[in-house]
Amino acid sequence: MKYLISIILGTGRQGAYSEKVAEFVFEEVKNYDFDVEFIKVKDYLDKPWTGGMNEEKRNKASEILKKSNGFIIVTPEYNHSFPGELKLFLDEFYEEFNHKPVGICGVSSGKLGGARVVEQLKLVLIEFMAIPLRNAVYFSNVKNFDQEKESYKQFLENLFKELKFYCEKLRL
Ligand SMILES: Cc1cc2nc3c(=O)[nH]c(=O)nc-3n(C[C@H](O)[C@H](O)[C@H](O)COP(=O)(O)O)c2cc1C
Repeated sequence: MKYLISIILGTGRQGAYSEKVAEFVFEEVKNYDFDVEFIKVKDYLDKPWTGGMNEEKRNKASEILKKSNGFIIVTPEYNHSFPGELKLFLDEFYEEFNHKPVGICGVSSGKLGGARVVEQLKLVLIEFMAIPLRNAVYFSNVKNFDQEKESYKQFLENLFKELKFYCEKLRL
């Protein structure tokens, strides 16, 4: 069976480097026999980002999330945590994430590749009754991403395989 994975880009910062990372993950995952959707949280939230989502956008996102078998959240680390807009987006939903695996790709300009946002986001995802995967991918030094991206392929492969394992085990 072919599973549908939604890649969720968790920042709306203009010029965010994480967008390049998310695009790369989106292209890579296609090589592993998944169907794939790409969700940018900024396309669903209206500025100022104070919560709430218009009905039409919410329904559209809900439909994609519901039919997804698993997710990969690509998110930068802002002040050791996740961007507010990612949380505002997630908080619009609940059942859409229940009992589904979620891989996380942390992104930072420093050396840790968003290690702290990955840990924090796992705790949030448990509250959604989602299954955050142990294996994450840490995109460090992201300003040099174009030169370094090849080196992430093996880490992504491990993440995709783990995602597929859980998609199979948790198939509804
Ligand atoms: C508000 C804000 C807070 C940040 N906090 C952190 C942080 O806690 N740790 C870190 O490694 N990088 C931090 N950064 C730098 C990001 O790692 C850097 O902007 C990187 O390019 C990823 O974010 P981007 O996708 O927005 O570009 C922060 C950036 C912003 C805009």
